[in-house]
Amino acid sequence: MKIAFIIDPIQRLDPTHDTSVALIEAAQALGHEVWITQAQMLSVVKSQAWAILERVELTPVQLLEGRWVASENWYKLGDRVLLPLEEMDAVFMRKDPPVTVPYLYTTYILDYINPEKTLVVNSPAGLRAANEKMYALQFTEAIPETIVSQDKEIIREFVEKKGAAILKPLGNKAGEGILYLEASDRNFNSIIEISTQWGQVPVMIQTYLPEAKDGDKRIILLNGEPIGTVNRIPTGNEFRGNMAVGGRVAQTEITEREHQMCVQMAAKLQQDGLYFVGIDVIGGYLTEVNVTSPTGIREIDRLSGANLGKQVMEWLGQRMG
Ligand SMILES: Nc1ncnc2c1ncn2[C@@H]1O[C@H](COP(=O)(O)OP(=O)(O)O)[C@@H](O)[C@H]1O
Ligand SMILES: [Mg+2]
Repeated sequence: MKIAFIIDPIQRLDPTHDTSVALIEAAQALGHEVWITQAQMLSVVKSQAWAILERVELTPVQLLEGRWVASENWYKLGDRVLLPLEEMDAVFMRKDPPVTVPYLYTTYILDYINPEKTLVVNSPAGLRAANEKMYALQFTEAIPETIVSQDKEIIREFVEKKGAAILKPLGNKAGEGILYLEASDRNFNSIIEISTQWGQVPVMIQTYLPEAKDGDKRIILLNGEPIGTVNRIPTGNEFRGNMAVGGRVAQTEITEREHQMCVQMAAKLQQDGLYFVGIDVIGGYLTEVNVTSPTGIREIDRLSGANLGKQVMEWLGQRMG
């Protein structure tokens, strides 16, 4: 197969951590031809999506004493060529959030790829449908009590009732802008004003789950099916579990309740073309559905000896074959 990845500049990726690199490695290992491009290198010409692409060849990372080690020059790029994306069997849209207006425009460009010829992972319509924070509200049974608002009084009432809550900006990632809230906080009003830009931007307010101290579990779903999991445990005096803010990763299992949760989510994810997704689960509750560039497979592979990238590529091969 020919596979293209829309990613952030490759020199900024961490081959020992980033899932995009793991997926590219897995595709290469199965003999597929891999190309990379960036969101700003896409165009539509004659109602077809085109991209300036570069062939990429990776030197795979190696597991040495329980750590992934990459060689210094871990990627090699070929010449830039302009090609219709329909020449690919699959296009992985893996640009990192925030989901900005230009990001959304990129998804509109990706609409001009013939789905009969090329599978876009995740589908552009799905990326637009699923705000990573708000999409969890689709699965009412699975989430902790949650509101979305920019109204100080509505937010205050919710937090007073719950005692403690977590505030989440709707467009961020990696723990950015996540705040712990108590109604008695002397900065309460100011926190809400800054987070909502004085009532202009809605934010998510969610019941605080004390189980968060035991970890924020990432479960990777492939076409609705859970294929692997890793726990991220807050360290030091940090309450957030995100790896980007020092969360310690640890091996874990998918519980029966979590398995049921995935079963309940599968049809909706498939319907929205959300084939490669990472859900976050705290104390058995769904807190986030990562669809833009979910990560975690390097950590899962390292801790459990799996090869999730290979599973993804084999699924793709069956689907497009
Ligand atoms: N309801 C909650 N209760 C307690 N902690 C939470 C809750 N929701 C999120 N957190 C903490 O905040 C971190 C980030 O939350 P998340 O919703 O996954 O957003 P993102 O990872 O995009 O920043 C989690 O790793 C967890 O530690
Ligand atoms: Mg998260």
